[in-house]
Amino acid sequence: MEIIVKKNYEEMSKEAARIVKERIEKKPDLVLGLATGSTPLGLYQELARMHQKEGLSFKKVKTFNLDEYYGLSPEHPQSYHYFMNLNFFSKIDINIANTHIPDGLTREPNHFCLEYEEEIEKCGGIDLQILGIGGDGHVGFNEPASSLGSRTRIKTLNEQTIKDNSRFFKNIDEVPKYAITMGVGTIIDAKEIILMASGKNKSLIIAKAIEGPVTSQITASMLQVHPKVITILDEDAASSLKKKDYYKFVAERVKKFNGN
Ligand code: F6R
Repeated sequence: MEIIVKKNYEEMSKEAARIVKERIEKKPDLVLGLATGSTPLGLYQELARMHQKEGLSFKKVKTFNLDEYYGLSPEHPQSYHYFMNLNFFSKIDINIANTHIPDGLTREPNHFCLEYEEEIEKCGGIDLQILGIGGDGHVGFNEPASSLGSRTRIKTLNEQTIKDNSRFFKNIDEVPKYAITMGVGTIIDAKEIILMASGKNKSLIIAKAIEGPVTSQITASMLQVHPKVITILDEDAASSLKKKDYYKFVAERVKKFNGN
């Protein structure tokens, strides 16, 4: 795992955007896995800026979102459909037909989830998956005890996740109790992954996910077995890592080796 520690949220977001841009320039029809939540907002803002000011085009890019609340319509202001349109898709030149987000209103979730997996496969698999990490160590909505081989399915949300996400709703009772999410196995199938985390409140879970054992209790720990993960943290999120100095040393060496 490559671990990059940046000064603050803005620098973390710019570094992630730099990598995404590079990958799109290499492969204009990149298949991009996307996350919602607070963490990737700066990344989306920077990518939108790159589109407007530097001509970065998303015309051929295909996207698959990790998850959607079950029971929310695309028009619901807290749905992930709404979030993606508001914060990213409406600001770039992406073809909406090339974007995929789980259907929160499907009456046949099992069937829908199989089709979502098939659609990813039809597009040749996800080239680059963007991830945040939940307070309980989830990626997507793969809550503690999710199978590390799981595929897209409907999941019950953990109490901590409902509490964490209640900040976006009028009150905690409005937070949906279920979501459709890519599985840990689906995420791990991506060819490359960027995990981002920012802020002190993520530091303990980041240390467990990166330096602790691989366990279904912290599904982000499964990223340790993936051959190509870039973890980008700000100083606060990195502050509980035991080997922080070592990661910084390695990152510097890698930069030098690559002539930067
Ligand atoms: C969102 C998602 C979640 C979030 C995680 C962190 O699509 O899949 O796993 O990445 O809950 O959320 P924030 O970034 O709001 O702390």
